[in-house]
Amino acid sequence: MSNAEQPTRSRRLVSPSPEETHRLGVKLGQLLQPGDFVGLIGDLGAGKTHLVRGVAEGAGVAQSEVASPTFAIVYPYEGRIPLYHADLYRLTDYDELYATGFLDLVGGDHAMLVEWLDRIPQAAPRDFLRVTLRHEGEDARSLDVEAFGARPAALLDAWLG
Ligand SMILES: Nc1ncnc2c1ncn2[C@@H]1O[C@H](COP(=O)(O)OP(=O)(O)O)[C@@H](O)[C@H]1O
Ligand SMILES: [Mg+2]
Repeated sequence: MSNAEQPTRSRRLVSPSPEETHRLGVKLGQLLQPGDFVGLIGDLGAGKTHLVRGVAEGAGVAQSEVASPTFAIVYPYEGRIPLYHADLYRLTDYDELYATGFLDLVGGDHAMLVEWLDRIPQAAPRDFLRVTLRHEGEDARSLDVEAFGARPAALLDAWLG
């Protein structure tokens, strides 16, 4: 499992505000290509969905489309490229994930943003970008960004250069 491997490349940064996290998301969204998979990890309120909103904006998705995927496992967005926003919070194991059809989407011709990837790490493909957010006080969040594979490493470089 790639999740246990050493990342190809990693970066750590601190976002001092929601606005900065949003800006980072927009930039990532501008860079996403079909096939990219971004896993988001962090406690409730860490900023996963906040970052995804920025990504969706950067990818050209109408902001009215972007919700927290509370009731469904996966939400499709139509932007510059097709984008899926998933939340694994309510799932308990790989079998349950399998039953949702989520796995059929992985590796498809779209980008994927997956909150709570740590719930089911096997949901990730071999190559992916992993972003771990942590509270660093009221309005600051650290982002640990780890790229597994060549394309994710290039994406990380282009994003945070
Ligand atoms: N630096 C920051 N980056 C992102 N969100 C922040 C930051 N500082 C404060 N926040 C706030 O934290 C909350 C994050 O919520 P949300 O993105 O829904 O978290 P999650 O999806 O991880 O549960 C939002 O209310 C946001 O305004
Ligand atoms: Mg969320």
